[in-house]
Amino acid sequence: MAAPMKRNLLSFFKFIVFFVSSLIINNVIGENSHHLHEYFLCRKCGREIVELSNLKNVPSSVALRQRNETLGHKEEVLVQLFKNPQNVFYEVITATQANVFRASQETGGDTWWPGFNWIILGCPQCRQHIGWEYIPQSKNTDEESFLGLVLGNLLYENEADELISSN
Ligand SMILES: *[C@@H]1O[C@H](CO)[C@@H](O)[C@H](O)[C@H]1NC(C)=O
Ligand SMILES: [Zn+2]
Repeated sequence: MAAPMKRNLLSFFKFIVFFVSSLIINNVIGENSHHLHEYFLCRKCGREIVELSNLKNVPSSVALRQRNETLGHKEEVLVQLFKNPQNVFYEVITATQANVFRASQETGGDTWWPGFNWIILGCPQCRQHIGWEYIPQSKNTDEESFLGLVLGNLLYENEADELISSN
């Protein structure tokens, strides 16, 4: 085979590899950045409450039960079961930030995360109870505040689309 033809074949082959791999990379990045902006909504009014990307597992030593669940496109979301002093059960997921408003003072007793105080959180639009903010009791700690959100009061936005389109 003549040398110039070999060189042409080689560069054609390189071009194909480059083209296919850039297609794959675009798809992967496109998928991820789309999923980053998926939300759990307030189940009562549909307001966007928490982005999937802001969920962060914070295990509690006093949870009655724990399980990992795939919620939307997020795998291994820790769902924890708790009971309050009035014997009401709550399934709770944890997050670093969310669209919520603070509905109480900071309180110390009956905490589900020992070492943390809590504040009741509501939906900023309809005031429905959404969960609690947990704040380290000690100021000399590396622990950070986080949110415990009631899974039953949230609706994954794709579920919401299905509910709306099936009406
Ligand atoms: C959930 O998944 C994490 C990470 O794989 C694991 O460390 C943890 O033990 C699992 N928890 C439960 C309750 O299955
Ligand atoms: Zn609401």
